[in-house]
Amino acid sequence: MSKRNVLLAAAALLVACALILAVGCAPKETTTAAAPAAAAPTEVRIGIVAPITGDAATFGISTKNGAQLYFDQVNAAGGINGMMIRTFVEDDKGLTDEGATAFSKLIDQNKVSVIVGTVMSKVSLAGAPIAQSKGIPMISPTSTNPAVTLVGDYIFRACFIDPFQGLVNAKYAINTLNMKKAAVLYDAGNDYTKGLAEVFRDEFTKMGGQIVAFESYATGTPDFNAQLVKIKAVNPEVLFLPNYYNDTGLIAKQARDMGITAQFLGGDGWDSDDLYKIGGAAIEGGVFSNHFTHESTLPAAQKFVSDYVAKFGGKPDALAALAYEAAMIVVDSIKRAGSAEPRAIRDAMATTNLDTITGRITFDATRNPIKAAVLLEVKNGAAVYKTSVSP
Ligand code: PHE
Repeated sequence: MSKRNVLLAAAALLVACALILAVGCAPKETTTAAAPAAAAPTEVRIGIVAPITGDAATFGISTKNGAQLYFDQVNAAGGINGMMIRTFVEDDKGLTDEGATAFSKLIDQNKVSVIVGTVMSKVSLAGAPIAQSKGIPMISPTSTNPAVTLVGDYIFRACFIDPFQGLVNAKYAINTLNMKKAAVLYDAGNDYTKGLAEVFRDEFTKMGGQIVAFESYATGTPDFNAQLVKIKAVNPEVLFLPNYYNDTGLIAKQARDMGITAQFLGGDGWDSDDLYKIGGAAIEGGVFSNHFTHESTLPAAQKFVSDYVAKFGGKPDALAALAYEAAMIVVDSIKRAGSAEPRAIRDAMATTNLDTITGRITFDATRNPIKAAVLLEVKNGAAVYKTSVSP
C-alpha cells in the first residue's frame, strides 16, 4: 500500500471505530475489517513513578498531581496526534528496591513508552539503569544529583543539578549574609543530601569561608543530639541542612532547643508544607534554594498555578511544577517523534526546545537543562520568594 492509502485506511478505521462507539454496540467477533495490525496506535502509555507513601509522601503526591494535571489537559484537548495518553502510576515509597520494582513493572507489564520519574535521586539511581537497559526513556522531574543522567542516553531530568544548587547557597551565605563560618549536618544514606553537603562545603571553602563542622547521621534517626552538641561547641554562623523536610524540621527544633542560633540554609528537599508543621517556630527565617515559586509572574506559571488550585485546592510546590514541566517535555517529544516508539521519543527529547512554566528548556550534552534557582524564606509557616539566581 502507498503511504497515502495507508493514511486513508487508517482514517477509515478511525471513522469506523467512532461509529461503533457512537452506537454503543461494538461487535466483538465481527470486526475483521478493523483488525488493526498495521494501524497507528490509538493510545500512548506513560508511566509515573513517585514516593506517594513513606517519609517523602508529600513529594510523591505533588509529583503525581502535577504530571496528571498536564496529561489530563492534553487528553481533554484531543490527545497527541490522535493518540490518547494512558498513565500508569507506581509508588516507590522513597525506597530503592521499590523503585527498581516500579520501573520494571511499568516497562515489562504495562509496556509504557516513556516514564516520568522518579523524585528522589537515590531512587532514580535505582530505576535509571533499568530504563536505560530496556531502552525506555525516563525524565526525572526533580532528581538533582549529577549521577542520575550519567547512567545513560535515555535518562533526562527537568531540574537543575546540585553543583549549582550548592553554589547558590554558598554564595548566599558569603556574599549576601556575609557569614564565613558554617557547619553542615546531612543524611549519610542519601546520594542527594551527601552530594549537596559536599558541594556546599567545597564552594564555601573556595570562596574563603570556613567549614567548622561537617556532621552526618544515619537515615531515619529522630535524634540529632550528638551531632548538634558538636556543632554548638564550634559556634557556626550558618548551619547548612541539605536534607528532606522531615529531618530538617526535627533538626531545626532540636538545634534551637539547645540554643544554637545559626542561620539555617538548605536546598529543594525542604519543599513541603510539612516542614512548617514539624519545624514550627524553629524553622522561621530559614532560607532554601528551590526550582519554582507559586509567586512566579510568568503567564504560563500563573495559569498552571490557577489550574492546579482549581483541581487540587492547595498551591503547587516545586515538585508539582517540575512534574507538570516533565509531562510537557514528554508530550512535546511524542508529538515531534510522531510515534509512541521509545527510541523515537528519546531522540526527540534530546532536541527539546520548549517554552515551559519556568521558561525555555533545552538539554545539554548530559541531558540536564540549564535553569535558574529561586531562594525562598520561611515566614509565618510558608515559603516566601526572596530572589532568583541564574547560572
Ligand atoms: N532534589 C531531591 C533529590 O534529588 C528531590 C527533591 C526535589 C525534593 C525538589 C524536593 C523538591 O533527591
